[in-house]
Amino acid sequence: MDSSRRTLLVATSAAGGVAAVATAVPFVASLTPSERAKAAGAPVEVDISQLAPGEMMTVEWRGKPVWILRRTPEMLATLEVTESRVSDPDSREPMQPEYARNKYRSIKPEYLVVVGICTHLGCSPTDKFRPGVESGLGADWPGGFLCPCHGSFFDLSARVYRSMPAPTNLEVPPHMYLTETTLLVGEDGKA
Ligand code: FES
Repeated sequence: MDSSRRTLLVATSAAGGVAAVATAVPFVASLTPSERAKAAGAPVEVDISQLAPGEMMTVEWRGKPVWILRRTPEMLATLEVTESRVSDPDSREPMQPEYARNKYRSIKPEYLVVVGICTHLGCSPTDKFRPGVESGLGADWPGGFLCPCHGSFFDLSARVYRSMPAPTNLEVPPHMYLTETTLLVGEDGKA
Protein backbone atom coordinates (compact mmCIF):
# COMPACT_ATOMS: atom_id res chain seq x y z
CA MET A 1 0.00 0.00 0.00
CA ASP A 2 1.44 3.34 -1.03
CA SER A 3 1.30 5.30 2.20
CA SER A 4 1.01 8.61 0.31
CA ARG A 5 -2.41 7.43 -0.92
CA ARG A 6 -3.77 6.74 2.51
CA THR A 7 -6.22 9.18 3.94
CA LEU A 8 -4.63 10.67 7.00
CA LEU A 9 -7.06 11.36 9.78
CA VAL A 10 -6.39 13.37 12.86
CA ALA A 11 -8.05 12.66 16.16
CA THR A 12 -10.53 15.32 17.19
CA SER A 13 -11.08 15.70 20.88
CA ALA A 14 -14.35 14.16 21.98
CA ALA A 15 -15.19 16.18 25.06
CA GLY A 16 -17.75 14.73 27.41
CA GLY A 17 -17.74 11.39 25.70
CA VAL A 18 -19.49 12.75 22.61
CA ALA A 19 -18.10 11.18 19.47
CA ALA A 20 -16.45 13.52 17.02
CA VAL A 21 -15.88 12.92 13.34
CA ALA A 22 -12.25 13.24 12.37
CA THR A 23 -11.30 15.52 9.52
CA ALA A 24 -9.74 14.11 6.39
CA VAL A 25 -6.92 15.86 4.61
CA PRO A 26 -8.61 16.85 1.34
CA PHE A 27 -6.45 15.17 -1.24
CA VAL A 28 -9.42 13.26 -2.71
CA ALA A 29 -10.58 16.22 -4.84
CA SER A 30 -7.43 16.05 -6.93
CA LEU A 31 -7.91 12.40 -7.91
CA THR A 32 -9.30 10.92 -11.12
CA PRO A 33 -12.60 8.95 -10.83
CA SER A 34 -10.82 5.58 -10.76
CA GLU A 35 -8.31 6.85 -8.22
CA ARG A 36 -11.22 8.17 -6.20
CA ALA A 37 -12.97 4.77 -6.26
CA LYS A 38 -9.77 3.16 -5.09
CA ALA A 39 -9.35 5.75 -2.35
CA ALA A 40 -12.95 5.10 -1.16
CA GLY A 41 -12.05 1.49 -0.38
CA ALA A 42 -8.57 2.26 0.84
CA PRO A 43 -7.36 1.78 4.38
CA VAL A 44 -7.53 4.84 6.60
CA GLU A 45 -4.57 5.98 8.64
CA VAL A 46 -5.58 7.50 11.96
CA ASP A 47 -3.57 9.56 14.43
CA ILE A 48 -4.80 8.55 17.89
CA SER A 49 -2.21 10.53 19.85
CA GLN A 50 -4.76 13.11 21.01
CA LEU A 51 -7.38 10.60 22.15
CA ALA A 52 -7.60 10.79 25.93
CA PRO A 53 -8.65 7.89 28.18
CA GLY A 54 -12.43 7.56 28.17
CA GLU A 55 -12.85 9.37 24.84
CA MET A 56 -14.08 8.03 21.55
CA MET A 57 -13.48 9.28 18.03
CA THR A 58 -15.20 8.30 14.79
CA VAL A 59 -13.53 7.89 11.42
CA GLU A 60 -15.06 6.92 8.11
CA TRP A 61 -13.93 3.77 6.32
CA ARG A 62 -15.70 2.51 3.20
CA GLY A 63 -18.59 4.83 3.99
CA LYS A 64 -19.05 3.32 7.46
CA PRO A 65 -18.43 4.96 10.83
CA VAL A 66 -15.62 3.27 12.73
CA TRP A 67 -15.37 4.04 16.42
CA ILE A 68 -12.09 4.13 18.27
CA LEU A 69 -12.66 4.10 22.01
CA ARG A 70 -9.77 4.50 24.43
CA ARG A 71 -10.92 2.56 27.47
CA THR A 72 -9.91 3.45 31.00
CA PRO A 73 -9.01 0.74 33.55
CA GLU A 74 -12.48 1.29 35.07
CA MET A 75 -14.11 0.73 31.68
CA LEU A 76 -12.09 -2.45 31.15
CA ALA A 77 -13.14 -3.70 34.59
CA THR A 78 -16.81 -3.55 33.54
CA LEU A 79 -16.14 -6.33 31.03
CA GLU A 80 -15.92 -8.78 33.94
CA VAL A 81 -19.39 -7.65 35.05
CA THR A 82 -20.94 -8.00 31.60
CA GLU A 83 -19.29 -11.34 30.84
CA SER A 84 -22.38 -13.22 32.08
CA ARG A 85 -24.86 -10.83 30.43
CA VAL A 86 -23.64 -10.98 26.83
CA SER A 87 -24.46 -13.65 24.29
CA ASP A 88 -20.99 -14.23 22.82
CA PRO A 89 -18.48 -13.30 25.54
CA ASP A 90 -15.42 -14.68 23.75
CA SER A 91 -16.51 -13.37 20.37
CA ARG A 92 -16.64 -16.71 18.60
CA GLU A 93 -19.05 -15.43 15.92
CA PRO A 94 -17.19 -14.31 12.81
CA MET A 95 -17.69 -10.58 13.42
CA GLN A 96 -14.01 -9.83 13.85
CA PRO A 97 -10.57 -10.89 12.77
CA GLU A 98 -8.82 -13.64 14.73
CA TYR A 99 -6.86 -11.14 16.84
CA ALA A 100 -10.11 -9.69 18.20
CA ARG A 101 -11.54 -13.02 19.40
CA ASN A 102 -11.14 -12.24 23.06
CA LYS A 103 -13.17 -10.42 25.68
CA TYR A 104 -11.54 -7.09 24.78
CA ARG A 105 -12.27 -7.69 21.09
CA SER A 106 -9.09 -5.82 20.31
CA ILE A 107 -5.36 -6.02 19.73
CA LYS A 108 -4.61 -3.78 22.71
CA PRO A 109 -7.16 -3.88 25.54
CA GLU A 110 -7.02 -0.10 25.86
CA TYR A 111 -8.36 0.53 22.35
CA LEU A 112 -11.62 -0.78 20.96
CA VAL A 113 -11.95 -0.42 17.17
CA VAL A 114 -15.42 -1.28 15.94
CA VAL A 115 -17.89 -0.48 13.16
CA GLY A 116 -20.60 1.72 14.67
CA ILE A 117 -23.53 0.06 12.90
CA CYS A 118 -26.05 -2.13 14.71
CA THR A 119 -26.08 -5.74 13.51
CA HIS A 120 -29.90 -5.79 13.66
CA LEU A 121 -31.12 -3.35 10.99
CA GLY A 122 -28.22 -0.98 10.66
CA CYS A 123 -28.97 1.92 13.02
CA SER A 124 -26.14 3.70 14.74
CA PRO A 125 -25.97 2.88 18.46
CA THR A 126 -25.48 5.67 21.00
CA ASP A 127 -22.69 5.73 23.53
CA LYS A 128 -23.88 5.31 27.11
CA PHE A 129 -20.56 5.35 28.88
CA ARG A 130 -21.76 6.68 32.23
CA PRO A 131 -22.53 3.88 34.62
CA GLY A 132 -25.40 3.72 37.09
CA VAL A 133 -28.57 5.77 37.43
CA GLU A 134 -27.09 8.79 35.66
CA SER A 135 -27.25 6.77 32.47
CA GLY A 136 -31.03 6.49 32.71
CA LEU A 137 -30.59 2.75 32.17
CA GLY A 138 -30.75 1.59 35.77
CA ALA A 139 -28.42 1.45 38.75
CA ASP A 140 -26.71 -1.69 37.51
CA TRP A 141 -25.82 -0.30 34.07
CA PRO A 142 -22.02 -0.61 33.83
CA GLY A 143 -21.60 1.53 30.70
CA GLY A 144 -21.77 0.55 27.05
CA PHE A 145 -23.85 1.34 23.97
CA LEU A 146 -27.57 1.40 23.29
CA CYS A 147 -29.14 1.08 19.86
CA PRO A 148 -32.25 3.25 20.17
CA CYS A 149 -34.05 1.79 17.16
CA HIS A 150 -35.19 -1.45 18.78
CA GLY A 151 -33.38 -1.38 22.10
CA SER A 152 -30.26 -3.51 21.75
CA PHE A 153 -27.66 -3.15 24.49
CA PHE A 154 -23.93 -3.64 24.01
CA ASP A 155 -21.12 -3.55 26.55
CA LEU A 156 -17.85 -1.60 26.28
CA SER A 157 -16.41 -4.30 24.01
CA ALA A 158 -19.47 -3.87 21.74
CA ARG A 159 -20.64 -7.33 22.79
CA VAL A 160 -24.40 -7.66 22.49
CA TYR A 161 -26.44 -8.54 25.57
CA ARG A 162 -28.47 -11.75 25.51
CA SER A 163 -31.96 -11.83 23.95
CA MET A 164 -31.61 -8.57 22.06
CA PRO A 165 -32.90 -7.80 18.56
CA ALA A 166 -29.28 -7.47 17.36
CA PRO A 167 -28.09 -11.03 16.60
CA THR A 168 -24.34 -10.51 17.03
CA ASN A 169 -21.65 -8.28 18.46
CA LEU A 170 -20.70 -5.21 16.46
CA GLU A 171 -18.18 -5.85 13.71
CA VAL A 172 -14.48 -5.28 14.29
CA PRO A 173 -12.84 -4.14 11.03
CA PRO A 174 -9.38 -5.33 10.01
CA HIS A 175 -6.84 -2.98 11.56
CA MET A 176 -3.26 -2.74 12.75
CA TYR A 177 -0.93 -0.36 14.56
CA LEU A 178 1.70 1.32 12.39
CA THR A 179 3.21 3.03 15.43
CA GLU A 180 2.18 3.42 19.08
CA THR A 181 -0.12 6.28 18.09
CA THR A 182 -0.98 5.54 14.45
CA LEU A 183 -3.68 3.08 13.57
CA LEU A 184 -4.47 1.71 10.13
CA VAL A 185 -8.15 0.81 9.68
CA GLY A 186 -9.07 -1.48 6.79
CA GLU A 187 -5.85 -3.47 6.53
CA ASP A 188 -4.07 -5.81 8.90
CA GLY A 189 -1.24 -7.20 6.82
CA LYS A 190 -2.86 -10.66 6.94
CA ALA A 191 -4.32 -10.70 3.41
S1 FES B 1 -31.28 -1.57 14.40
FE1 FES B 1 -30.34 -1.70 16.36
S2 FES B 1 -31.81 -2.73 17.53
FE2 FES B 1 -32.71 -2.68 15.58
